[in-house]
Amino acid sequence: MIAKTYSFTVVGLESYAIEIEVDVANGLPAINLVGLPDTAIKESRERVRSAIKNSGFQWPAQRITINLAPSDLRKEGAGFDLAIALGILAASGQIDDRQFKNYAFLGELSLDGEIRPLCGVLAIALALANYPIKNIILPVENAPEAAIVPEISVWPLKNLNAVVQFLNDPTIYPPLKLIPAEILTHQAQYSLDFSEVKGQYFAKRALEVAVSGGHNIILIGAPGSGKTMLAKRIPTIMPSITLKEALEITKIHSVAGTLSTKVGLLGTRPFRSPHHSISDVALIGGGSLPRPGEITLAHSGVLFLDELPEFSRKSLEALRQPLEDHEICVSRIKKTLKFPANFILVAALNPCPCGNYFNPQKVCHCHTTKIKNYLGKISGPLLDRIDIHIAVPPVKYQELTQTQDAESSIAIKLRVENARKIQQKRFSTFGITCNAQMTGKLIKKFCLLNKNAEELLRLAIAELGLSARGYNKVLKVSRTISDLAQSNAIQEEHVSEAIQYRALDRSIN
Ligand SMILES: Nc1ncnc2c1ncn2[C@@H]1O[C@H](COP(=O)(O)OP(=O)(O)O)[C@@H](O)[C@H]1O
Ligand SMILES: [Mg+2]
Ligand SMILES: [Zn+2]
Repeated sequence: MIAKTYSFTVVGLESYAIEIEVDVANGLPAINLVGLPDTAIKESRERVRSAIKNSGFQWPAQRITINLAPSDLRKEGAGFDLAIALGILAASGQIDDRQFKNYAFLGELSLDGEIRPLCGVLAIALALANYPIKNIILPVENAPEAAIVPEISVWPLKNLNAVVQFLNDPTIYPPLKLIPAEILTHQAQYSLDFSEVKGQYFAKRALEVAVSGGHNIILIGAPGSGKTMLAKRIPTIMPSITLKEALEITKIHSVAGTLSTKVGLLGTRPFRSPHHSISDVALIGGGSLPRPGEITLAHSGVLFLDELPEFSRKSLEALRQPLEDHEICVSRIKKTLKFPANFILVAALNPCPCGNYFNPQKVCHCHTTKIKNYLGKISGPLLDRIDIHIAVPPVKYQELTQTQDAESSIAIKLRVENARKIQQKRFSTFGITCNAQMTGKLIKKFCLLNKNAEELLRLAIAELGLSARGYNKVLKVSRTISDLAQSNAIQEEHVSEAIQYRALDRSIN
């Protein structure tokens, strides 16, 4: 007899339906799995066999053939166990297959028949929403992420026996339903706040400007000056997350297996801080079964690269394309997969080998050529994608011992959101969302300077040694500063502030 069940697999960030056919026929006892299964699926034979026996059913002493279709799709993971086990039980006449056409089945089986969680369930739930079958039986741990998709019905069940019982009478449990908007409100809480950072008014202002215009930023300061502390709080001043963004972030983290199972939806923007020893693939994404890298895990949030010059040249080179396109193309044998990668890049580095350069309270003993060499490591194409660089000197003792709280993240975020609204309106017909994304043509159109401002910028370029490369960046950042001030025109003071955010132009040139 033949039985048919449905399950799903994840490729990249997308999910595809898998049809599982099981044939139990007379012949020498044997089991055959066809349809390009990987090693994980071969292992699944053993798990399914134990789970069936330990759930009180018979393992058929017949010839079992299992086909996973479509055959050209490379299938990964242990998520088909449950569907295979049910297929075997029905094909061997031990259970009824009447309900199989109404449900998709998802889950790895443990040897005693418990249903274990897997990665990528939100991606599967979103695919199911566009599939004729809208009901899914899945592991309890994965239920919240699936139940936020309104189009589908989700039944979290504990073990194989519970599934068999449910299929005999699907009225015994109601489906789990969650309301995404409610969860989002509940989840959108950060544990950190800018009010905890004493002093550092200049750095905080620069971060506010960076986030407002979507500008990438470099923080230059000695160890202990507070760079990491500042960077970690950037997501708290980014615009409030929308439901669409939350779903996208959650899907990415679900596929990558970095989603905590208790929450259905990630309501906070990610902060990713990979170590400089990270491999290119882990940073950018890819592999034989392509997985999102750190740049995709940072999507909609912050990618923090601490000790930037320590990253391999190859890794830094690989960042250029996604910084430009806000997505990454990962090639596979048959097709190219795209992962989103739109984040604010925050890089930190020591100002010089001794750490004291840029610190007004200490003396730097490094030779100028040594400093140039050190900073030169990060010059070039990557630096070209970073609009703001500032020095972060350690906070003064008096400021550190202040007892009153500094300005809260919410207050800063409010200004950021207002500045973003102006940009969205400005660029509504240009296909971009913020000032950092302006091309040369748009800069000419939207960053007009009056005589005084123009003169100031000319002087800065000539006398402070600001590079020509910095010219367009100063214009873009000036635009953001004037947006924060709700000013239509870019004023002299906006340009003069923007010039202060070009620390590396002065040191490298
Ligand atoms: N402005 C500040 N306000 C309050 N605490 C600070 C400040 N700057 C530094 N600290 C304290 O010093 C610690 C080290 O700062 P950190 O951000 O790790 O420095 P860096 O990343 O530059 O090496 C922080 O965890 C924090 O406790
Ligand atoms: Mg640090
Ligand atoms: Zn030094």
